[in-house]
Amino acid sequence: MSNLIAPSVLAADFANLQRDIEMVNNSEADWFHIDIMDGVFVPNISFGMPVLKAISKHAKKTIDVHLMIVNPDQYIQTFADLGANILTVHFEACTHLHRTIQAIKAAGMKAGVALNPHTPIAVLEDVIAELDLVCIMSVNPGFGGQSFIENTYKKVNQLRHLIEFSESNCQIEIDGGVTNLNANKLIEAGANVLVAGSYVFGAENPTETIADLKNIVG
Ligand code: DX5
Ligand code: ZN
Repeated sequence: MSNLIAPSVLAADFANLQRDIEMVNNSEADWFHIDIMDGVFVPNISFGMPVLKAISKHAKKTIDVHLMIVNPDQYIQTFADLGANILTVHFEACTHLHRTIQAIKAAGMKAGVALNPHTPIAVLEDVIAELDLVCIMSVNPGFGGQSFIENTYKKVNQLRHLIEFSESNCQIEIDGGVTNLNANKLIEAGANVLVAGSYVFGAENPTETIADLKNIVG
């Protein structure tokens, strides 16, 4: 499995969104990471359907949607219609997680589950075989630009073992505080998708920064 970089559009310049989408299209980035926040599950509101529709119109790479919302089941078909290729829901927001995962797949998308920093990997034991992606939050969800939580490495390791044990081919995504300083160590711990928001869009040369990250993750 190759190692992927997913710039988080949350850190883009929304007054120049098309420019930033084209930058990602023309870069070595692999996916677009799209953060949807509802102001209930997390203490912040990002953007919703009309913005995702606009992004989808221009994006030429996989669209990886990270839902930080309560009741995600209600919107699964909507996100499929809006062009999401991967739909990730939070473990902490789903009462019937198994059912939610099946519904995402039935809508034609790949299914992901995100874990908050306090949620242990072990809660995924009975659904890991069903999953295409697990997103380990390396910050508390809600905001870009926060610093990386070091305990993440241990969780990546545990998840890598769980995946090997269950013979699933689920991808391990890391979201929050990713930079050139932790990228290599995360890959070594067993991650294979790194989300980077402020590190990419806050850089003087985002295209080069993406290329540097790709170089680090190999
Ligand atoms: C945080 C979001 C992240 C965020 C990452 O709640 O899920 O995807 O955009 O931003 P950085 O890379 O700046 O931590
Ligand atoms: Zn995210």
